[in-house]
Amino acid sequence: MKQFAVIGDPIAHSKSPDIHSAFAAQFGIQLTYTKLLADKQRFVTITTDFLTQGVGVNITLPFKEDALRVADELSDDAKRIGAVNTLTKKNGLVKGANTDGVGLVRDIRDNYGVEFTNKKVLVIGAGGASKGIILPIARENPQLIMVVNRTDERAVLLAKQFADYAKISAITFDELKTAFDIVINATSASLSGQKLALNPDIFAKTTLAYDMMYGAKPTPFMQLASQHGAMAVDGLGMLVEQAAESFNIWHGVLPDTKSVISQIRAMLLVNS
Ligand code: ATR
Repeated sequence: MKQFAVIGDPIAHSKSPDIHSAFAAQFGIQLTYTKLLADKQRFVTITTDFLTQGVGVNITLPFKEDALRVADELSDDAKRIGAVNTLTKKNGLVKGANTDGVGLVRDIRDNYGVEFTNKKVLVIGAGGASKGIILPIARENPQLIMVVNRTDERAVLLAKQFADYAKISAITFDELKTAFDIVINATSASLSGQKLALNPDIFAKTTLAYDMMYGAKPTPFMQLASQHGAMAVDGLGMLVEQAAESFNIWHGVLPDTKSVISQIRAMLLVNS
């Protein structure tokens, strides 16, 4: 049986085994998918050891950059982003890819029916989560992508990193005065239930406010956005969609995601 795993720290909460098992059931594919806890010192050894038998590994926080060192080859996106969330062993070589941004775009565009083309997009945050989404968003031809970050310099650096591939620029929180079509919270503020100091004028009735975090309850960012009339959603669909793209890389078929998003949503609510 083909073996897969997700590696991270923490890892106990991961829904990836449930998601991949549900996808596999759609095609009658037999596989095992386990959770592996690692630490910085042992990450490379644990991953390499697993891939002596295993076919694929998903990499989650905080190892997406460390995973670059495990890969023999990288996809163009993984190279430009500088982070990997999917490793595949094939013909003795380990290939690294990054499916996070594709997952976000598919969730917003296909599941919520909101196109990026000609839209004004605001990305809040300039850490690893932001890096992972810029290229796939840029491929959808938005009018512009603005990045805002608590530490301004990181937003400027991020805009520079992707300047050759996207119409992207940095902006400060003070300069945020008008509405965007799509606002994406890629900060880790929601993890700790922290509020972002956001001018609510960035939200209009037609704005989609997307938090890359997910949970049983709306995050503070989602609450603020809905209070100001925007449609606010969380990142559970992105989680399932990035998994679907990893599944596609490993098995050559794209699973149905809608039913799996509902299944994982129900699990979240039961466990809350
Ligand atoms: P990740 O890989 O999850 O993006 P990261 O690289 O540590 O993690 O980045 C976290 C992001 O969330 C950063 O953009 C961080 O802002 P700073 O660069 O100023 O640290 C942002 N962030 C975290 N907590 C925040 C808060 N309470 N308010 C605003 N931004 C916050």
